[in-house]
Amino acid sequence: MREETLSVHGHEYFDEEYGVFIPPIYLSAIFEQKIPTRQSRRGTELKYSREENPTVYSFEKIIAKLEKGFDALAFNSGMSSISATLIALTKSGSKILVPYEMYGTTIQLIDLLQQKFDVKKISVYPDTKDIIEEIKRSGPDIVFIETITNPTLRIFDVPEIAKTCNDLGCSLIVDNTFATPILYNPIEHDARIVIHSVTKYIAGHNDIIGGVVVVKNQEDLNLLWDWRRILGGIMQPFEAYMAIRGVKTLKIRFEKTSNSAKAIAEFLKDHSAVKEVYYPGLDESPYKPVADKMFKQKIYGGVVSFEVRGGASSVDKILRKVKIIKPSPSLGGSESLLTYPIISASKYIPEEIRKRLGITDGLLRLSVGLEDTEDLIEDLSQALSTI
Ligand SMILES: Cc1ncc(COP(=O)(O)O)c(C=O)c1O
Repeated sequence: MREETLSVHGHEYFDEEYGVFIPPIYLSAIFEQKIPTRQSRRGTELKYSREENPTVYSFEKIIAKLEKGFDALAFNSGMSSISATLIALTKSGSKILVPYEMYGTTIQLIDLLQQKFDVKKISVYPDTKDIIEEIKRSGPDIVFIETITNPTLRIFDVPEIAKTCNDLGCSLIVDNTFATPILYNPIEHDARIVIHSVTKYIAGHNDIIGGVVVVKNQEDLNLLWDWRRILGGIMQPFEAYMAIRGVKTLKIRFEKTSNSAKAIAEFLKDHSAVKEVYYPGLDESPYKPVADKMFKQKIYGGVVSFEVRGGASSVDKILRKVKIIKPSPSLGGSESLLTYPIISASKYIPEEIRKRLGITDGLLRLSVGLEDTEDLIEDLSQALSTI
């Protein structure tokens, strides 16, 4: 089956008694327990919703299939997925390699693991060649990357990085939030684990927080299932229901916002108030060749970043002036959102590194929503005319 069909039917839910094929919300903390304990459809114990819940499981089935994984486990946030994965995979003395450009809270988590436990963070410039050289040089245990970086939208050659990791026996974790399974499936190219902030494209409506971890074998499923049970970060049934509903339209939403984003990037590129546009779908982007090599479709995602002339004071005017586009810190939902990275996702990246990466006080990140493309361009045009 292909993505759109999997998004709608991949949960495989069917209630024989009532003929129901839409997964309901199992708002139950507990399940009947006699001897032996009841088994879930996954084959784990089903007795308590901190461990396993049928609505959450229905959502997990869809994501496992979309990401071509063995199975998936949903969490109550993207960060909860990331922290459970890192805790599960890290041992005393582990070395974790991360690019400088990464979701700031992920970096902060690794910094705290380093401060509190015997874990070493190795930071590297966000470029495929630098990452591969650093893996060979320092022999990390874990390499953690995002397929498309946030906010300057660099794209790594994940198959090349995965090959190096596998040759040297380190685990590759890929945060695929920006690319989504519509563009790319890291597990197919040998990543060990894939993570999503479900809050973004997968749920897609800016109304729930969630996360998911995709694994490629039973061993990792058992490991993560146990850590989720112990840390207590499972997704709640209502959020799972909303995510099941949201993911049904993932592909059409992602195509629509990618096409709008491309048109907006072209518009921004020619605007006199704009110094630089970061969008991998532009012909002049240095990341277009790797995107064309890796991605399943010739679309490049719904996020466009751009630097305006005049720095923070111009940004301030634009954030006040946009009408349809909302100034807000997330991405991947129906509403277009304009984010100021230095006060949100990139806040925890040290200032001198931010400057090296182009995350300046004039940089804005636009997550293109489902509104009419021309309305969005007109909104940006009127906001930019004020600087
Ligand atoms: C790439 C990426 N990964 C992970 C996260 C964390 O997800 P959540 O906010 O759902 O905890 C975010 C949040 O912005 C993100 O952008």
